[in-house]
Amino acid sequence: LIGMARPEHLTCWNISAGTYPRGASLMSRLRFLIGYAILAPSSHNTQPWRFQIDESGVDVYTDRSRLLEVIDGEGRQLFMSVGGALFNLRAAMRRFGHEPNVEFFPSKRETDLVARVTHGRKIATTIEDVELFDAIPARHTNRQPFDPVPVSFRITDALVRAAHREGAWLMRLHPDERTRAAELIAAADRKQFNDKRFRKELAHWLVSNKSARGDGIPGYSKSYGAPSTATTLLVRTFDIGGRVAEGERDLVNGSPMLAVLGTDRDDERAWLNAGQAMQRALLTACVHGLSASFLNQALELDEFRTEFEDLTGHGQPQLVLRFGYGATARPTPRRPVGEVLGAPEIPYAVASEPKQNVG
Ligand SMILES: Cc1cc2nc3c(=O)[nH]c(=O)nc-3n(C[C@H](O)[C@H](O)[C@H](O)COP(=O)(O)O)c2cc1C
Repeated sequence: LIGMARPEHLTCWNISAGTYPRGASLMSRLRFLIGYAILAPSSHNTQPWRFQIDESGVDVYTDRSRLLEVIDGEGRQLFMSVGGALFNLRAAMRRFGHEPNVEFFPSKRETDLVARVTHGRKIATTIEDVELFDAIPARHTNRQPFDPVPVSFRITDALVRAAHREGAWLMRLHPDERTRAAELIAAADRKQFNDKRFRKELAHWLVSNKSARGDGIPGYSKSYGAPSTATTLLVRTFDIGGRVAEGERDLVNGSPMLAVLGTDRDDERAWLNAGQAMQRALLTACVHGLSASFLNQALELDEFRTEFEDLTGHGQPQLVLRFGYGATARPTPRRPVGEVLGAPEIPYAVASEPKQNVG
């Protein structure tokens, strides 16, 4: 574990079906399943989720105190991150033979409560259930260049179907579209790094390799070429946009597969679907031995997002994903289950404000 995050924030990845507390109370079993939910990816590894367990199921909440105000003011990525955790929870419930029944936005009063997952009827676990479940702790974002090995149409099709099953679409870009996307991503990088607020927010979530934090992105995962202890200072202080832009452009152009995941609508429910679709697609990729990483900067700025809409001609682009074959990436820290249990605390002033209509 030399050069890695604190061991206690990585032990959560050493989880396997063998330790499922089969004979224990339902609440203990549900708590075990949440150990899989927290392994979902989240923007800047903010882990903007909370879970509340009771005798019949799990309430899944967004934690808006972890909203990335600069890059994600509307909460699109926050909802997608929670959607990813929700998918893991569903996959884990199926793995142990129960249908997950999901009710979306079950409460008018608790606006952060996005889903209630109850332990449904007994089902026969399929091979696909087991494969997706086993992929949860094996999946890691891999930002390294991928091998120049093509991704087959069969696997592309599996990813397209994975997204579709969760109410989203996934479109693989042709090489000329990919070149255009690479230019847009590089332009977005330059614009973002030129913005002091963006640099400050990013620097806050970049952590040193040995950080005691259970969240944020460690230097070994995303370093911008700097030693891990210097990354935060580098990002906060200098406009390294030109350098980042060139690096990401090369990464995109060298990717065997670039894809856009999107939805027809653009509201909280659509973002939850996009997050579930994201996670089903990432786990499916993992099952096929593929690595993936995200290039979302162009969708965080309205002018570039519109260009992605034109490029895909499909609806609302939500995520840009790069797929390919590469070395295994290292795990990033997670806050343990005990730290994310219980409904989020909402200050009275916020709780009493009318809900914004983001539809
Ligand atoms: C909605 C969403 C958007 C993301 N956007 C980016 C991105 O634009 N660039 C990037 O390098 N990583 C991005 N990530 C990846 C996260 O930084 C990563 O999931 C997190 O650091 C945890 O690491 P892990 O995926 O290896 O578990 C995104 C993740 C999510 C869920």
